[in-house]
Amino acid sequence: MNQRDTLKINAAGHLEIGGADATELAEKFGTPLYVMDEKYIRDMCSAYRRAIEEDYAGNGLVLYASKAFACMAIYKIVAAEGIGVDVVSGGELYTALKAGFPAEKIYMHGNNKLPSELEMAVDSRVGCIVVDSLAEIDKLDSLCERRGVIQRILIRVNPGVEAHTHHFIQTAKTDSKFGFSLADGTAEAVTVHALSKKHLRLDGYHCHIGSQIFEKESFGLAADKMLAFMSEMKTAHGFEARTLNLGGGYGIWYSDGDARYSVSDYTGYLKTVIAEVKCKAREYGIREPFLLVEPGRSIVGEAGVTLYTVGTIKEIPGVKKYVAVDGGMFDNPRYALYQAKYTALLANRAAEKPCEVVTVAGKCCESGDIVCANVSLPKAETGDILAVLSTGAYNYSMASNYNRNPVPPVVLVRDGKAEYIVKPQSYEDIIRNDVIPAYLQK
Ligand code: LLP
Repeated sequence: MNQRDTLKINAAGHLEIGGADATELAEKFGTPLYVMDEKYIRDMCSAYRRAIEEDYAGNGLVLYASKAFACMAIYKIVAAEGIGVDVVSGGELYTALKAGFPAEKIYMHGNNKLPSELEMAVDSRVGCIVVDSLAEIDKLDSLCERRGVIQRILIRVNPGVEAHTHHFIQTAKTDSKFGFSLADGTAEAVTVHALSKKHLRLDGYHCHIGSQIFEKESFGLAADKMLAFMSEMKTAHGFEARTLNLGGGYGIWYSDGDARYSVSDYTGYLKTVIAEVKCKAREYGIREPFLLVEPGRSIVGEAGVTLYTVGTIKEIPGVKKYVAVDGGMFDNPRYALYQAKYTALLANRAAEKPCEVVTVAGKCCESGDIVCANVSLPKAETGDILAVLSTGAYNYSMASNYNRNPVPPVVLVRDGKAEYIVKPQSYEDIIRNDVIPAYLQK
């Protein structure tokens, strides 16, 4: 089913996730339910780590981009696999630290880090802060001066490489809010500025060209542009960058039309980038940088499945058939945001052939609340368990309480057994921070 055999159809004709029967998971934990397969996540982390060890003599670090899926347990798994993380907010940083994640392996991103987030990052001794504005450089330098510390930084650069993906998830277009442009000389000016700061140690550069990208060439091109720039900085300013962070962005399989990559295909991506970095370092006469990559989606995306219970079924004759489930845009806003495509199946009738094309709708009070459009299913009935595949990345992490729906819990499956890594939210949790001013209490 997916490339790593984590999804199967068992003898009972049920979907099995990491050895656990999906219908039993739905029965035990209720729906909607996010299910994450631990082995899948660990296999991806260790494969990426090994690729850097084998092809680059270990001169680098894989950082899990925790925006894809963050909770305390994932930071534990990632730490055990010997890789680092990137965080983009005080909340992600807090979660990682609370999970005991080694601070020196945390890279802090953000185009508009709050003063409190910068303080938190410096005070918790994160390994590196990726700076993304001139004001931030000044602010960070004085903050470090007051504390008498020196902070390692990277500068976020926009290499101007356009990769083919949804325009909202492209991050290196020339009009992007992220990074300093190579093309107009800003990245160079910022380099000079950062080098003048006594309490910052400029270590190198970061770029990220987008997400859900399948073309290897885009990553190679970005690497080439970055190394050319590093060589220019060496010649022009005697600054030889030690570190190069090439971001994340490798695509995953969601539905027909997406490539189905194996673990070795993903490490193949990385190996191609490593080969390009080595070749260009030689060509431009600079040292091979300490290499960072930040895959998020490819580590957790296909490890996740969301289980729902089918409720209302409504057919608009000659137009379309809606199969409504007990979740929706509050657990997965990606259709509403990006018209994202997914593959769905009936977990309790997984061996049955699809016979109709339907739209899976959510339960929110909004017409755009679609989970996935145009999916082929057997004739669904109320009470069936519907599974949406490849929901491990940017689903739980983008969930909300829209319509005051509780965010579904997350279970982690390991050797066929599942346990909560995020407990269910109760209605009580939803009103926890609500306050009724005294004058309204009469
Ligand atoms: N590093 C940086 C600096 C990033 O901005 C991102 C993603 C990553 C790494 C990880 O990229 P990945 O390997 O996961 O593609 N919400 C969107 C995705 C936004 C990604 C933003 N940055 C979605 O649901 O598709």
